[in-house]
Amino acid sequence: MDKLWAGRTAGTTANLVDEINSSIAVDRRLYKRDIAGSIAHAKMMAKQGIITQQEAGALVEGLEGIEADITSGALAIDPTAEDIHMFVETVLTARIGDTGKMLHTARSRNDQVALDTKLYCIEEAESVRDLICELLRVLADKAEKNTGVIMPGYTHMQHAQPVSFGQHLMAYAMMFERDISRLDDCRTRMLERSPIGSCALAGTTFDIDREYEASLLGFTGIAMNSMDAVSDRDHFVELMSDLAIIMMHISRLSEEIIMWATSEFGFIHLPDEYTTGSSIMPQKKNPDVAELCRGKTGRVYGNLMSILTTLKGMPLAYNKDIQEDKEPLFDSIETVKLCIEAFIEIVDVMEVNEVSMYESAKKGYINATDMADYLVVKGMPFRDAYNVSGKIVSYCVGRGCPLEELPLEEFKMFSDLIEDDIYHRLDLRTCMEKRNSAGGTSPESVMKQIEYIRSKIEK
Ligand code: ARG
Repeated sequence: MDKLWAGRTAGTTANLVDEINSSIAVDRRLYKRDIAGSIAHAKMMAKQGIITQQEAGALVEGLEGIEADITSGALAIDPTAEDIHMFVETVLTARIGDTGKMLHTARSRNDQVALDTKLYCIEEAESVRDLICELLRVLADKAEKNTGVIMPGYTHMQHAQPVSFGQHLMAYAMMFERDISRLDDCRTRMLERSPIGSCALAGTTFDIDREYEASLLGFTGIAMNSMDAVSDRDHFVELMSDLAIIMMHISRLSEEIIMWATSEFGFIHLPDEYTTGSSIMPQKKNPDVAELCRGKTGRVYGNLMSILTTLKGMPLAYNKDIQEDKEPLFDSIETVKLCIEAFIEIVDVMEVNEVSMYESAKKGYINATDMADYLVVKGMPFRDAYNVSGKIVSYCVGRGCPLEELPLEEFKMFSDLIEDDIYHRLDLRTCMEKRNSAGGTSPESVMKQIEYIRSKIEK
């Protein structure tokens, strides 16, 4: 195939070279950003007197036409083009003539692709953020309905202390809120460093205005070293790390949903539309959505390793290796968005089985810490109270009864401090409601968390 870049070489390449060199199948997604970058470039060149205003006008009009036609479907992206940058420039010149050939003055595909992908990262960081806000909204609403629903809280997967289902859900809300803050961070850093105007690697002999071109594209500043700017993909690593962490959170929640939906737990019920059947076992109702999100986490982690490995050992400045940056990035973005969308619905529709949660919480001497706390309030030092409570638990285990069903005279065998008020104190609801410390599981504390999250997503 003959190439726009036929210069030193004849520009004819073997088919296999075309195949390995081509990135159009992947970078076609960047056409809007590529055209936005080119429009800004034309305007900057006109302002600086590198091209005339008329020439810039023709370039901008031509580029806008191409964007509209690709979007409407009137112009198909040629799958045999080398990449999206070449495709747009080729169509532009075919449409507006020789003026089209001026567009690539004071520019290189190296800074162009760095710009396009950065614009993509900036926009997508924002759309992932918006989806997480929606997920937080749903989590907060679900939590608000469940501030009084008691379930066993676990450590080591063993019954530990009673918590509310609202508190459990808000734990995930806090994870996703950190995800938002990480995405914001990454986005701010990207906006501060526009690569365009770095050209191939060393800058340009033309009198360009990089700050102006950057500001037209919404950047707040420019990357300060041209060699770094064309080869920098740190923001890919950052964004893909942020996405991997989001998936880690989604995967943790997936795991719990899968467990909660088992007959062993029976804590939640997923409506039929959100489960699938088996081709052989007629009774099956599988939580595939959560399983798939848990599974896709592996791919998103893999994408992060992929970009890190591509960048490792890469000398300055641009090397074709970096063309491999886009596939993992696009895949991570698309996967994460799909999974968050799925979770927005799953969290909303899952039905809570209050009775099973409560029945389960009654097992496992989950109020033993409260027994000790009771004795402390009555004047016993905590370590002694811990000891006495441990003995009472072991006595109850032998007797096969829960703590709150032990007769008062038997309690008194362990300590005179124990009175009739022990029964109210050991009630699971009391145990849950009394944990009113900041961040604790009491309904009041959970409501504060909900308000905190809601205030964050309003911003
Ligand atoms: N398709 C290329 C990429 O994605 C664009 C930059 C090509 N630069 C070059 N000097 N061949 O990285």
